[in-house]
Amino acid sequence: MTTLTFQTQIQDLLLEVEARMRAQGDGYHPILKEALDQLLGSGGKRVRPTVVLLVSGMLGVDNYRSTSLAAAVELLHTATLVHDDLIDDSKLRRGQPTINSTLSTPATILTGDFLFSQSAGLGAQVGSPEVMHFFAQTLSTIVNGEIAQIFQRNALTDRDIYQERIYAKTASMFELAAKAPSVLVEGHRHHLEPLRAYGHGIGMAFQMVDDILDFSSNADDLGKPAASDLRLGLVTLPSLYWLEANPDDGRLATLQAGQRLPEAELDALVDDIRHSEVMQFANREAKQQVQDAKDMLAGLPDRPERDALLQLADYVVERLN
Ligand code: IPE
Ligand code: IPE
Ligand code: MG
Ligand code: MG
Repeated sequence: MTTLTFQTQIQDLLLEVEARMRAQGDGYHPILKEALDQLLGSGGKRVRPTVVLLVSGMLGVDNYRSTSLAAAVELLHTATLVHDDLIDDSKLRRGQPTINSTLSTPATILTGDFLFSQSAGLGAQVGSPEVMHFFAQTLSTIVNGEIAQIFQRNALTDRDIYQERIYAKTASMFELAAKAPSVLVEGHRHHLEPLRAYGHGIGMAFQMVDDILDFSSNADDLGKPAASDLRLGLVTLPSLYWLEANPDDGRLATLQAGQRLPEAELDALVDDIRHSEVMQFANREAKQQVQDAKDMLAGLPDRPERDALLQLADYVVERLN
C-alpha cells in the first residue's frame, strides 16, 4: 500500500484497519472471500478511513472504536464501488478487472451485499446507535443519488442538479467519515457541524476532480477507462461549463436527447472540451470547495492531525497537477 504524506501519522492504525477488513471474509464462501481479498489487494487510496482516523485522533477517540469506524466506512465505499461498476458496466478499477467483469451479475450483486453487511457489522462494533443511524442515512443518500443518476442519463441537466448528484453519491460519505467521530467522545459535539462541512467540501471537490480527470487524464494513470462519462451519456462539470459557453453545440444536445453520437464525433467533443478554458472553470470550482473545507477546521483542536487534514484537503486538488 502506498502511503500518502498525510497518512504517515496514522500508518499503524491503517494497517490495523486493513487487517480488520481482511478478516471479514473468514468462514464465508470462497467466492466471497476471494472477492474481498481481490478488492482489498487491488489498492485504493484509503482516503475515507484516513479522514476517520485523523479526526478521531484529533478528538481523542480510542483506537478500537476509530479503527472499527474506519474499516466500516471503507467497506461501505468498497461495496458501493462493486455495485457502481456493475451499474456503469465498468471493466477496470484500480488497474484490475472489476468484480462484474469476472463474476456473473447475480454473484456481483451478492458480493456487494456481503460487503454492505460486513460494513454494518464493523459499524456496530463502534457501539453507537447514533453512528449506525448516520450510516443508514448515508447509504440511503448514496442509493438515492445513484438511482437519480440512472434516470438523469441523457437528460437535460444543470450545475444545481449536478451538485445534488455528487453530494449524494460521493460527498455524503466524506461527511459521514468526518463527522461521525465527534459523537464518540464527550464534549466534542459542537465540532460535528464544522467537521460535516469539511467532509462536504472535500467530498464535493473529490468528485469534481474525478470528473475533470475523466477528461484530462488517461486510463493508465486512472486505473480505469478515461473519457467514459460522456460515453455513458453522463454530463459532468466540464461538460456543463462547455454547454454554458457553447449553448448551440448540437453534439451535447444530441447526447442529452438520448441519441447516440458517432464514435468519431464523441472523440472530437471530448477533445474540444479537454482543450478548452472550461477545464480551468471546473478546476477553480473544485479548488474553492477545498478552500471552504479548510476554513472549517479553524476552530478545531490545534493538533498534528488537524495539519494532516489540511494536507489531505490540498491533496484532493493536487491530483489535477
Ligand atoms: C472512487 O473513489 C469513486 C469516487 C467517488 C470518485 P476513490 O478515488 O477514493 O477510489 P479508491 O478507493 O482510491 O480506488
Ligand atoms: C463513484 O461514481 C461511485 C460512487 C460514489 C457510488 P462514479 O461512477 O462517478 O465513479 P467511478 O468513475 O466509477 O470511480
Ligand atoms: Mg457511477
Ligand atoms: Mg462508475
